[in-house]
Amino acid sequence: MEQLSIPTAPLLDGGFIPLVGTGSLFAKGNELADGLAACINDGYRLIDTAAQYANEVAVGEGIRRSAVPREEIFVTTKVAGVDQGRGLARRGFEESLRKLGTDYADLLLIHWPNPSRGLAVETWQEMLDLQSEGLVRHVGVSNFLAHQLEELYGATGVWPVVDQIQLSPALARTELRGFLTERGIVAEGWRPLGQAEHAMEQNIVRTIAERHGVDVSQIVLRWAVQQGAVVIPASKTRERWLRNADLFGFELSDQEMTDLATVDLGEAKAWDANIHEEW
Ligand SMILES: NC(=O)c1ccc[n+]([C@@H]2O[C@H](COP(=O)([O-])OP(=O)(O)OC[C@H]3O[C@@H](n4cnc5c(N)ncnc54)[C@H](OP(=O)(O)O)[C@@H]3O)[C@@H](O)[C@H]2O)c1
Repeated sequence: MEQLSIPTAPLLDGGFIPLVGTGSLFAKGNELADGLAACINDGYRLIDTAAQYANEVAVGEGIRRSAVPREEIFVTTKVAGVDQGRGLARRGFEESLRKLGTDYADLLLIHWPNPSRGLAVETWQEMLDLQSEGLVRHVGVSNFLAHQLEELYGATGVWPVVDQIQLSPALARTELRGFLTERGIVAEGWRPLGQAEHAMEQNIVRTIAERHGVDVSQIVLRWAVQQGAVVIPASKTRERWLRNADLFGFELSDQEMTDLATVDLGEAKAWDANIHEEW
């Protein structure tokens, strides 16, 4: 089959990020390395990992096992809660690089804001230093709410280029995404198939999928990329990872987007980053 061709979205800092990437929680060890290498050989370029996932060694191995040079791949990793703060964030990131077997990351995110510790601003300042030293190309955050993003900007005058958030038609995050869009921050959807919220099982999603002759998963993912959001679905099955990136040969109409808005369960069903913390 022909290689997938995945478009990019522009970043605030002048860079670009692929609109579809793969997560890395679908397998471990050799199985993960081989799966990622195969995804990359099929055309995936964006790979999402995190210090917290304890899989960066296998991710690095997967990149090396692929036929694609490192510089063509966009590697995202994240600062774990335990590594927040000046110094610690740097040491944690250096450890991520060592495990990945690379000398730079394309995108570094703060994994969760963890407000009870109050270290997000310090962490962000350290990440800006890492960026100016060329160790990371782009810097962003994950799971940040509007007021938490404002805190980073207020302290440094720099907005994150990406906010990786829980996002699917069933958790549409409309207000937060409005805030991101106004500032040019790219929303990146984690768990973008919305399984826990049964996004793919909704009748309206099935109806729209039948109309376009595509799978329900493609409707759910197309909903995000059509609005400029990046998605990082993960599958251990080739048929599925090919389908998950095959989103650019059809378009949802305005009416279909309006109909999909009816499956949103609302912000209250998303994990609340004012309370939920991860280490
Ligand atoms: N920043 C954060 O806080 C955060 C939190 C969670 C996740 N993430 C990132 O986001 C990535 C994606 O999230 P996720 O792995 O939780 O969820 P996901 O990618 O939305 O879903 C993965 C599950 O969906 C199945 N699947 C994949 N493609 C499918 C398709 N086309 N049709 C039906 N089922 C399909 C997979 O099963 P099979 O393997 O059997 O196909 C697997 O069970 C993670 O790998 C991770 O990198 C970030």
